[in-house]
Amino acid sequence: MTVELVVNNKTNMVTKGESISDKAHSIEGAEFSCLKGKCGRCLVEVINGELGHLSNSELEFLKLMGLATDGKYRLLCQGIAKSNAVVRKF
Ligand code: FES
Repeated sequence: MTVELVVNNKTNMVTKGESISDKAHSIEGAEFSCLKGKCGRCLVEVINGELGHLSNSELEFLKLMGLATDGKYRLLCQGIAKSNAVVRKF
């Protein structure tokens, strides 16, 4: 089963349960750097869908930036494809 992950209006297929960072270099429109949830380069707004649980480093980053930790903002490098998801580069 695959999951559609839409980044900046471009659709990318990610296998359900797969780490998005594993697909980092093939996701068009996504930008990555540290891949550790520290730099924020891959920050996105989740328009709909789920990317799985927030990692500890992701939670720390979002709190530091004063952003919501309810899943509205995510670091793509920390996401696990859980359902179809549409995200927009923040
Ligand atoms: S690539 Fe640095 S936080 Fe995701």
